[in-house]
Amino acid sequence: MQQRQRLVLLIFSLFLVFQTSNGHNITRLLAKHPSLSTFNHYLTLTHLAPEINSRTTITVLALDNAAMSSLLSKSPSIYTMKNILSLHVLLDYFGAKKLHQITNGTALAATMFQATGVAPGASGFVNITDLKGGKVGFGAEDNGGSLDSLFVKSVEELPYNISVIQISKALPSAVAEAPTPGPSELNITGIMSAHGCKVFADTLLAHPEAMGTYEDNVNGGLTVFCPLDDAFKAFLPKFKNLTASGKESFLEFFGVPVYQSLSMLKSNNGLMNTLATDGASKFDFTVQNDGEDVTLKTKINTVKITGTLLDEQPVAIYTIDKVLMPRELFKAAPTPAPAPAPVEAADAPKASKSKSKSKSSPDLVTDSPADSPNPADQAADENAGVSFKGGRSVAVGLSFLLVFLLL
Ligand SMILES: *[C@@H]1O[C@H](CO)[C@@H](O)[C@H](O)[C@H]1NC(C)=O
Ligand SMILES: *[C@@H]1O[C@H](CO)[C@@H](O)[C@H](O)[C@H]1NC(C)=O
Ligand SMILES: *[C@@H]1O[C@H](CO)[C@@H](O)[C@H](O)[C@H]1NC(C)=O
Ligand SMILES: *[C@@H]1O[C@H](CO)[C@@H](O)[C@H](O)[C@H]1NC(C)=O
Ligand SMILES: *[C@@H]1O[C@H](CO)[C@@H](O)[C@H](O)[C@H]1NC(C)=O
Ligand SMILES: *[C@@H]1O[C@H](CO)[C@@H](O)[C@H](O)[C@H]1NC(C)=O
Repeated sequence: MQQRQRLVLLIFSLFLVFQTSNGHNITRLLAKHPSLSTFNHYLTLTHLAPEINSRTTITVLALDNAAMSSLLSKSPSIYTMKNILSLHVLLDYFGAKKLHQITNGTALAATMFQATGVAPGASGFVNITDLKGGKVGFGAEDNGGSLDSLFVKSVEELPYNISVIQISKALPSAVAEAPTPGPSELNITGIMSAHGCKVFADTLLAHPEAMGTYEDNVNGGLTVFCPLDDAFKAFLPKFKNLTASGKESFLEFFGVPVYQSLSMLKSNNGLMNTLATDGASKFDFTVQNDGEDVTLKTKINTVKITGTLLDEQPVAIYTIDKVLMPRELFKAAPTPAPAPAPVEAADAPKASKSKSKSKSSPDLVTDSPADSPNPADQAADENAGVSFKGGRSVAVGLSFLLVFLLL
């Protein structure tokens, strides 16, 4: 009997290990420290928290509530706030010990601000210098050599995944603090044209109805997947063959009416509605991880995200390697695919909302007839904590199987 209990305990702890090996959660780490609550809140508001969770070997320079309120007294917009806070995430691991023993007493660390591509020149780097009397100073590299933000204490260290240390005040940086253009001032076709999606951007500009749909969504949240020039150029003959309304829907199919950072896409696999989704015309696709890659697929083909052109909430623009084809406008290459069983099809409307995650069959998902007419609602539903729940049920299942085998 005692042996059994021990076994159960062992299995239970195995299960716990399984669960927590999902990686760190900055929101949860900071929640233990009430003096850092405002900082924590803003990591969530700016969507930096999932970005931080998706990385390892990083250091978060946390600010206490007093330091945050002096930052907030300048009333930065949420976009500016994101730039400022991303300058406080170093892309290297610095525990308290390493900070005090930096080789040659000084180092430059790249930051998440630098990684967004928004920061010009050296402005995305932070200078860390060991000062007299055991102090450690921090300063943004574009800040004229001032190092007046000081190490206060180590908050959390999970070597070598994430270190959270508190510093005395926000790193001043003219570049990070500069007012960012509001989303409505963004020239999305200009950004695409300048970075390898000129053919797609020009086509969009030549179709004002589709362009208008993109513009209408810029303020509320928009994610664009633009096909790279070579791929889109080769596709133009097929595009020109479409009817006028087909062309409009096709162009709108590459926009999603919600903001999705790359790490949100990685962790929220599932069905996604597009700007072309309109009642019975579904025009949706499935987002799915393929290792570190993120793929988009329809029944016709699968494409891969190859780069990020812009990631500034509420707008994200990614490049894709091929032209994703909506099944509403194109026929699949003839394959001897068996027709879906009628029983499954009848089940589909419910399945597409709640069961789609456990069953990875895209057929079930995409075959459902009419569905939620509100794209934003559905996207939110589809996104809710999917991969984590999946991992947990696998773990639970495995644990029960083990119990069963061993007892
Ligand atoms: C670091 O992350 C890896 C993978 O996510 C995990 O297995 C490991 O336990 C983590 N280490 C710590 C100290 O949390
Ligand atoms: C991280 O922790 C917070 C607070 O406990 C929770 O709301 C959030 O869902 C967690 N995120 C992940 C990815 O587990
Ligand atoms: C430390 O300084 C020495 C001599 O100036 C130099 O050769 C070395 O590359 C420096 N190390 C680092 C990590 O900067
Ligand atoms: C960091 O700043 C200090 C003071 O301006 C400077 O002396 C040092 O060379 C800088 N460190 C690096 C690695 O650039
Ligand atoms: C957007 O960028 C394109 C290409 O650079 C340019 O032709 C166009 O005039 C710009 N539109 C606005 C409103 O600035
Ligand atoms: C355009 O449509 C015609 C008629 O449906 C078809 O024969 C032709 O192959 C199509 N061209 C392309 C490039 O798809």
